[in-house]
Amino acid sequence: MEKAEALKRAAAERAAGWIEDGMALGLGTGSTVRHLLDVIAERRAAGEWGSIVGVPTSEDTAARARRLGIPLGSLAEYPRLDLTIDGADEVDPELRLIKGLGAALLREKVVASVSERLVIVADESKVVELLGTRAPLPVEVDPFAEPVLLDYFRSLGAEPELRLGDGGEPRVTDGGHHIVDCRFPEGIAHPEALEAALLVRPGVVETGLFLGMATAVVIAAADGVRVMGEAG
Ligand code: A5P
Repeated sequence: MEKAEALKRAAAERAAGWIEDGMALGLGTGSTVRHLLDVIAERRAAGEWGSIVGVPTSEDTAARARRLGIPLGSLAEYPRLDLTIDGADEVDPELRLIKGLGAALLREKVVASVSERLVIVADESKVVELLGTRAPLPVEVDPFAEPVLLDYFRSLGAEPELRLGDGGEPRVTDGGHHIVDCRFPEGIAHPEALEAALLVRPGVVETGLFLGMATAVVIAAADGVRVMGEAG
């Protein structure tokens, strides 16, 4: 396995330590979570975790989990989740996150908000001192409102760019919205204030700031795996 993939696998294996049979689990999105799905499938094939159920945060994760035979449910059936395991694009020392480079931020945030625990899996390249210094902040917007939102984002210090798909068309999320990636050249000094300023604006559906949500972050580095926040 390539080195980067081996780190993601190591983070996924560590995070799987939080899983107990019978849990309703939020299943995140992204390449690190794909390793988690593999771990879950392997443990189930070995006769463990026969009664877990997953609530997926994207069509991509749902399709992959189905292929692996992981039982899935909806939020209507499981409005409270024991644990969600998800990836991230940035993590700061206070366990605040930027998510959404995979375009699944809305469902990820909804699922995280009803989870007792949110465990993040990442490799060490995602750890930053200041949010916004490595990744842009994805903001999910209603396409109707988009033309008038870009100037508003600029007034907040962002350099906004509509995310495009491979064909050059706007990337459409699972919820039918667009994503505006907001670069902050100096980083995001006050994430809570920025979150409030973004969410108050009509047409902003959700932001990729996950503040006060993660209960633990599993970081895989070349010299080992460490956990920020509560130990599992
Ligand atoms: C999906 O919208 C994102 O929030 C992902 O969780 C994030 O991009 C992490 O993905 P990787 O594990 O592929 O880096």
